[in-house]
Amino acid sequence: MTEISGHTRIYAILADPVHHVQTPQKLNALMQRRGHDGVMVPVHVGVDDLTTVVAGLKRMKTLGGFVVTVPHKTAIVALCDAVSRQAELVGAVNCVRRGADGRFVGEILDGLGFVAGLRREGFEPKGRRVLLLGAGGAANAVAFALAEAGVAGLSIANRTRAKSEDLARRLASAFPALPIDLDEPGAAAPDIVVNGTSLGLAGGDPLPLDASRLVPGQIVAEVIMQPRVTALLAAAQARGCRIHYGLPMLECQLEMMGDFMGMTPSGITP
Ligand SMILES: NC(=O)c1ccc[n+]([C@@H]2O[C@H](COP(=O)([O-])OP(=O)(O)OC[C@H]3O[C@@H](n4cnc5c(N)ncnc54)[C@H](OP(=O)(O)O)[C@@H]3O)[C@@H](O)[C@H]2O)c1
Repeated sequence: MTEISGHTRIYAILADPVHHVQTPQKLNALMQRRGHDGVMVPVHVGVDDLTTVVAGLKRMKTLGGFVVTVPHKTAIVALCDAVSRQAELVGAVNCVRRGADGRFVGEILDGLGFVAGLRREGFEPKGRRVLLLGAGGAANAVAFALAEAGVAGLSIANRTRAKSEDLARRLASAFPALPIDLDEPGAAAPDIVVNGTSLGLAGGDPLPLDASRLVPGQIVAEVIMQPRVTALLAAAQARGCRIHYGLPMLECQLEMMGDFMGMTPSGITP
């Protein structure tokens, strides 16, 4: 890490718990690689203290921005001075930049990182029909980013149907021309299947989708990073699908976070 001096810009990650986070290690390495004089530190903030901590951060003139993760991604929206269109649509923020005027601007990069990761690996979502499994935080962000990327249609399947219905309603209102439906067994095979649930994190988890619905040539993508090859990806490989790991979503997000918060040699957002 570069030597911390009076010129060093400070970045934080707000979380509860915070001990498990990997973002400081990765963004500190990114700043070093990019020649940016900054340091990111973990900040353990409980739900009841978020407003107080954010008000304090706002008064710090050497703050460049901060990352927000569980459980604060929704509550932080109201504490920003402005948020991007994606963040407004998704209703969550995971990265905040402190502008030169001291204003906090929020962005949600989970979904944009997912789409950038797909593209980086050569899988273009534009014009493809997508089946999205899940309707939680990650799935919401992925859904809006896929819609923005120009998918041809989006089917949503989630254990709690009310959450799929709510997501479909909000998507339809933002993207009225996009065909959206709630997945039904027997539906035509999509071009891309995305697991946006947490099923696959634990060894004994059931598959998020009946493997008999996977067809050769289909792209099967994960948001889960650990294990690298989830049971779904293993089943997809066995059925001749092309697979996309969860890690590119994070890697692309880290680059985007660096850009958004101005982690450049000049400290200016590109
Ligand atoms: N690669 C990355 O950069 C990245 C970034 C963010 C998140 N993630 C990963 O995304 C995953 C989801 O995170 P999240 O924040 O979206 O969590 P979340 O908001 O709690 O949503 C969890 C989702 O999984 C579903 N689910 C959980 N247990 C289930 C079960 N037993 N059967 C069926 N469905 C089940 C939930 O369905 P219900 O609605 O019915 O509860 C919901 O759709 C996590 O594994 C996280 O690590 C990855």
